[in-house]
Amino acid sequence: MAFSDSVASWRDRFSISGWALLPLRLFLGFTMVYAGFLKISDRTFLDASNPASMQAQMLHAMKSSPLSALLPHIYEHAALFGWLISLGEVAVGVSLLLGIWVRLGAVGGFLLSFSFFLTVSWGTTPYFFGPDIVFMFAFIPLVLAGDGGVWSLASSIRAAVVRTSNLPNRPVEQIAPAKLAEVDRRVLLRTGGVAVGAGLIAVAVGVIARSFGGSSSSTTAAKTTPTPSTSASSSASVSPSASASPTPTDKPSGTKVATTSQVAVGTAFAFDAPDGSPAFMVQPQAGTYMAWSRVCTHEGCTVDFDGGQSQFACPCHGATFSEDTGDCTGGPGQGPLQKYTVVKAGNDLYVA
Ligand code: FES
Repeated sequence: MAFSDSVASWRDRFSISGWALLPLRLFLGFTMVYAGFLKISDRTFLDASNPASMQAQMLHAMKSSPLSALLPHIYEHAALFGWLISLGEVAVGVSLLLGIWVRLGAVGGFLLSFSFFLTVSWGTTPYFFGPDIVFMFAFIPLVLAGDGGVWSLASSIRAAVVRTSNLPNRPVEQIAPAKLAEVDRRVLLRTGGVAVGAGLIAVAVGVIARSFGGSSSSTTAAKTTPTPSTSASSSASVSPSASASPTPTDKPSGTKVATTSQVAVGTAFAFDAPDGSPAFMVQPQAGTYMAWSRVCTHEGCTVDFDGGQSQFACPCHGATFSEDTGDCTGGPGQGPLQKYTVVKAGNDLYVA
């Protein structure tokens, strides 16, 4: 058996799974487009001063990742790699959704997930708390099976090209190689044109959203509108705020974010910190005000406030953090939440 024949039979063996893999393919395709779109539209994603930015995640990853020797070099070109990751995610998603070059797209998705696993998720314990390893393995069936001709724009384009190519009505092996090569060339041009066009539209939408001030990302914490959150399941988290119980004569510094009436004991008040990160103001004991970042130290999800347990809880993988110290008290969190200094002046609460 010729090598090309063995490759063909290998492909045929896996291609019958096209329908079975369609739900997985659509989920991964949508998720990748969504993830790339959010990064492109998120102005804070490449803002090194933001604790949820790509740079901040890389600094965190440098401490434990097996790629720690490589990361400083990538860090120097964070903007370039940030755009490559974002555009790569969009390209992978478009490929899977449209059914164009699905195997190639799945290889790209696998490599992206593998790189996230080696960096962002590497310290996750146990390993299955991290989503990247799951995504990594989810792409493998699509690498093996492709689209199987199901919901496949590439297959439709090929069929249309064949119909209009005046190929002789003979078995394919009896058709002149030059004729078949011409068909392949036309299919490649058309599928490439469609894929590039769809990718450009997705990127354009993301860039437009960015220009209108979008600021959330799949892997970074979303900003929150200052709203009181008074019990379990309001979001908040993060770091230490200076407890401070300054007297009304203290000179206010920083930004006024709340008034004491908005932060009752046992509740959390959500606000945007001066650095743009979502944060919570809490009053663990009467008269002691603290402010913590809501950015989970595991993978950057936005933590909620669990008033019943006096703690912050991450909805992504279950990390919990102390309301008093910001320390991780359970789950895969890596270090305490970031703390903000709080100054109380009269009935106003300021955060530096
Ligand atoms: S992001 Fe994983 S526990 Fe918070």
